[in-house]
Amino acid sequence: MGTRFIHLSDHRLFSGALVLAFLVALALPGQTLSAQETGADEDVTYTRDVAPIIQQNCQICHRPSSVAPMSFMEYRDVRRYARRIKDQVARRLMPPYHYDTGNGIQELKNDWRLSEEEIETIVAWVDAGTPEGDLADMPEPMVWRDELMWQQEERLGPPDHVIKTDPFDVPAQGADTWWRPIVPTNLTTERWIRAMEVRPSIPGRQVVHHANPKLLRKDEEGEYQPLGNLSEYAMGKIGEIVPSDAARLLKPDDKIEWDTHYYPMGFDAPGDQIELGIWFYPEGYEPEFTQNLKLYPLQGDIFLEPGGTSMTQGFYRWDHPVRMDSFQPHGHVHLHGMSIRAIYPDGKQELLSMVTDFDARWHHSYIFDDDKSPMLPTGTVLVMTGWYENSADNPLTDSEMFFARGSRTVDEMSHAWIAVTHLDEEGYERITAEREAKSKVTSDDRDGSR
Ligand code: HEC
Repeated sequence: MGTRFIHLSDHRLFSGALVLAFLVALALPGQTLSAQETGADEDVTYTRDVAPIIQQNCQICHRPSSVAPMSFMEYRDVRRYARRIKDQVARRLMPPYHYDTGNGIQELKNDWRLSEEEIETIVAWVDAGTPEGDLADMPEPMVWRDELMWQQEERLGPPDHVIKTDPFDVPAQGADTWWRPIVPTNLTTERWIRAMEVRPSIPGRQVVHHANPKLLRKDEEGEYQPLGNLSEYAMGKIGEIVPSDAARLLKPDDKIEWDTHYYPMGFDAPGDQIELGIWFYPEGYEPEFTQNLKLYPLQGDIFLEPGGTSMTQGFYRWDHPVRMDSFQPHGHVHLHGMSIRAIYPDGKQELLSMVTDFDARWHHSYIFDDDKSPMLPTGTVLVMTGWYENSADNPLTDSEMFFARGSRTVDEMSHAWIAVTHLDEEGYERITAEREAKSKVTSDDRDGSR
């Protein structure tokens, strides 16, 4: 048998079931309920201990007409899937948030991960034979909003401004299509951006593989030049939140060049339009620093034999101090993991962030907590490492085939999306000093209260 490269039409890989994921991020609340600060000896019951975890972390997707194939609304449904639930949560595969626990910065905004206690509670309940418990302990059912909403709406209200792609007819059948309309901003004055989110239509979202609005700005000669991406949408990703001391500028005569990748899914999606929702700072606001989100490529060949592995790296160095606000690995079905590491000017190294079980169906931008985002002094070298696997364990690939770098869904490629706030030396010193002062205050507090 000679070398075969797949030409793919099996879009079901990425498909429908998963696509609503981006709706959930803000609706997933934080951590544990006090109810399951489990005394290990106590019997764990569904109604008292497990139902609150399932309600708050799973039902957003695991309910009728949402993205997951099975509903976890009733005790009997959850009991039926108990073994698989135990397996998925113990391996941290569900909720689908593929960020390494224990490697790199752990403090993230919108973190979907279960706490250790929550995982232990579920495991203990399954091991105990899934007891239901006292019905009086059952928490009130959650109330779900089903309409198409912006994920950041709950926090910020509806967006101040919406920029749409030109309509595009996505056919039922055919090959991957790229649609790159250039559209005006329709702004009348300059504004500073505070948050952004890309939202595909319904049912268009099922056929959108990715959609990236790029910012184009006129240079001195009046020619439009690309200034990087404003945001990036791919299945499962939430919008961009800009930290409160930074902002991105949008000018009235800027243009947005959409880079969208559609693939037919067996139904017509006529006149599809993707939207960019923008929340602005108030008029007259002047930010101290600017932020941008940019793609940082990993270089080199990716050549995957049947059953094989591969690795690539990318390097970057800024000529001024920066604060790294978010990290998102991007690859296709063979990317297994990616890490980013800083080599500081004094030679010290630090692992900043790492995603080992990358899953091409779920795209998350991991946004660091305000006080934990890495501060990189001038001269720091960023090292990005991606590793790839073409193994029989990977349900998304045919491991009998050869794969190589390319831009189709089945080819492999990878890069890191990183949002960076550009500082000057003074800003760097100040923010670092503020953080030190803050952490000193909290540790003093702790000493005082002992
Ligand atoms: C963001 C949406 C989302 C959330 C939140 C979510 N799931 Fe899922 N889950 C899915 C989807 C979609 C699938 C089916 C596709 C897949 O396997 O990824 C799935 C599949 C599963 C499966 C079957 C996997 C298998 O192959 O056996 C289990 C079990 C599961 N989820 C449990 C949970 C539990 C428990 C939680 C909460 C702690 C949870 N999920 C939270 C979307 C979600």
